[in-house]
Amino acid sequence: MKFRNILFFLLITGVVNAQEAKINTLVSQMTLQEKVSLLHGNSKFYVSGVKRLGIPEWALSDGPHGVRAEINRDDWAYAGWTNDSATCFPPGTALAASWNPKLAYERGLVLGEEARYRKKDILLGPGINIIRSPLCGRNFEYMSEDPFLISKMAVAYIRALQSKDVAVSVKHWLANNQEEHRDSVDVYMSERALREIYLPGFKASVMEGGALTVMAAYNKFRGDWCSENEYLDRQILRKEFGFKGVLMTDWSAAHSTVKAALTGLDLEMGTDKKDYNEWYFADPLIRAVEEGKVPVSVVDEKVANVLRVMIKTKMLEEEKREKGKMNTPEHQRAAYNSAAEAAVLLQNNGNLLPLHFDKIKSIAVIGDNATRKHCNGGLSSEIKALYEITPLQALQQKFGATVKVNYAQGYEKQSSFKEGNNSGQSGSGKVDWKLIDEAVKAAKESDVAIIFGGLNHDFDTESSDKQNMDLPYGQEVLIREVAKANPHTVVVIIAGSPVELAGIVYRVPSILWTWYGGMEAGNAVADLLSGKVNPSGKLPFTLPVSLAQSPAHALGNYPGRDLKVNYEEDILVGYRWFDTKGIQPQFPFGYGLSYTHFSVGGFSTDKSSYGKGETIRVKFTIRNTGGSYGAEVVQLYVSDPECSVLRPKKELKAFEKVFLNPGETKTVEMLVKVADLAFYDESKKAWNAEAGEYILQLGNSSRDIFQKVKISVE
Ligand code: BGC
Repeated sequence: MKFRNILFFLLITGVVNAQEAKINTLVSQMTLQEKVSLLHGNSKFYVSGVKRLGIPEWALSDGPHGVRAEINRDDWAYAGWTNDSATCFPPGTALAASWNPKLAYERGLVLGEEARYRKKDILLGPGINIIRSPLCGRNFEYMSEDPFLISKMAVAYIRALQSKDVAVSVKHWLANNQEEHRDSVDVYMSERALREIYLPGFKASVMEGGALTVMAAYNKFRGDWCSENEYLDRQILRKEFGFKGVLMTDWSAAHSTVKAALTGLDLEMGTDKKDYNEWYFADPLIRAVEEGKVPVSVVDEKVANVLRVMIKTKMLEEEKREKGKMNTPEHQRAAYNSAAEAAVLLQNNGNLLPLHFDKIKSIAVIGDNATRKHCNGGLSSEIKALYEITPLQALQQKFGATVKVNYAQGYEKQSSFKEGNNSGQSGSGKVDWKLIDEAVKAAKESDVAIIFGGLNHDFDTESSDKQNMDLPYGQEVLIREVAKANPHTVVVIIAGSPVELAGIVYRVPSILWTWYGGMEAGNAVADLLSGKVNPSGKLPFTLPVSLAQSPAHALGNYPGRDLKVNYEEDILVGYRWFDTKGIQPQFPFGYGLSYTHFSVGGFSTDKSSYGKGETIRVKFTIRNTGGSYGAEVVQLYVSDPECSVLRPKKELKAFEKVFLNPGETKTVEMLVKVADLAFYDESKKAWNAEAGEYILQLGNSSRDIFQKVKISVE
């Protein structure tokens, strides 16, 4: 070890020892009652402290893409504060669609600052469950079907947020991949699928990101609730990942006192009992200790975990703590950047986009999503945004002085969503001809028609899944009729999860997918349409032609039978399924166009043969051959054609978003550890990078590969 490294090591060891000594002292000064008061909520989002020892009450808040407005202490109603409006970012799938971890970092800083300003200690996010089915109501809040992309985004988000003295809570541990029966379903999957697909995001969040808290999911995993699951909570999270922070329940996801205590749960939140002393981790825990069912050392371990989070977030040294800021222009700029970089240009026949507003005299702006605000939807992740710019507002404000804007609603949001009641989602096929006629008239009278369609938070929501993948409210008919009236029709899809586009791709020249864009949604989409911003997002999930193509649905194992779901598609989730089975999706994972063009070449590796402990250095050059500034996301997939077990045809192992001026060329290096080429070998219960040939493939989607290089592992 170099002298500098030794010094650093001694310093860290010293700090850790001092921290642990402080924790031990505090624990030794507490009564059992005081200890237990730290292990359960004393209201919806607060947990008691121990005042006499200088331990403050601590505050938790949703959620992943903004700091949620204040909720009453003892019920779910909003407290009606006037100073809790916040910055609202585009939700998870939009973040992942940017393929830019710097934006995840930027978001983490903003969320940390706003959480601190609101005096919050733990922000309940990021949500990183795998997008397994296109129907999952919470897909919009999650990020991707790919564990590598999730890991990169989550680690950046966590590091930034926690640098502001706020803890994250990575959720939902584990396999909360559907909202249907989420609080009773029992999930089964192979050990290999667990290790290769469902765990890596959490592993990276804890081991690389240093996540200070983790939230246990509602569902069961292999027979046991996630909040009291020995294998997940003790064996994997604590022992394998070395997690030393707080494992909390999701709200009302505790089911026992003794079992949960012994298997490693630290904090009970949201239990549906008015008297907080009756919660599992309140008086019953005290009794369990007194009766000898739970050793006091187990309680001490939990209290130590809580204190460790408090020390790391400087909760015990308020004067040294980040003070925070709210709603600054920088925060709003970050929200804008995130929306602008998320948009995925799916189709642009005849280069209809970007629109040259200086030459256009009139536009038809059509669709309920042209005027709908989305920040305040989706349940626990809903944000009381300081403001939210809709597409219509932005288009009028930016171009209205010279361009006539003909607005028509086009379709109506027919459902009224009630939590736990899927019936609100009916109306997929309902066509309102009066609204369509108005839209057609507006389209005929305009140079260009822009339809803002997609979904809303009646569909993309916590607590229920979508019923199907349709574009609801008769939008397909609307799009068909408008496109007939005006061939210069652009469709903008605002949605956080896959919808079927098969019925519209051949009818309109251009489709831009802009997700829920947060508070700056309108400004971003107007700038994307005008070309002020060049689209650079890529799909973070495969867009199937129809639901039946998608693995869980093709195999009939969604949402499960008799409250059990077996993930029979195994490791073949998302593009791993489509590519391995040779199924052509509507648009592949990683796909997205630009207003400019790129050429990629010179793909090479530093060697042709590697040892198991080595790192592969991959190089390529990329040139912007078009006429505008833009960014390409270059993706490196690996395949292992000769393996003792089935491997997915391609697996993402690295990516880089490269920004280039017209004519500019850059040489880019990416690193892949040979160890990361391994599969999880169930027979050995270990990762196994088998010796032999591997093919590295460079592309800009899982289906668009520019160049391949073979390497071998000794
Ligand atoms: C959600 C969590 C959320 C919690 C608190 C639960 O219903 O599943 O993601 O953080 O509520 O609002």
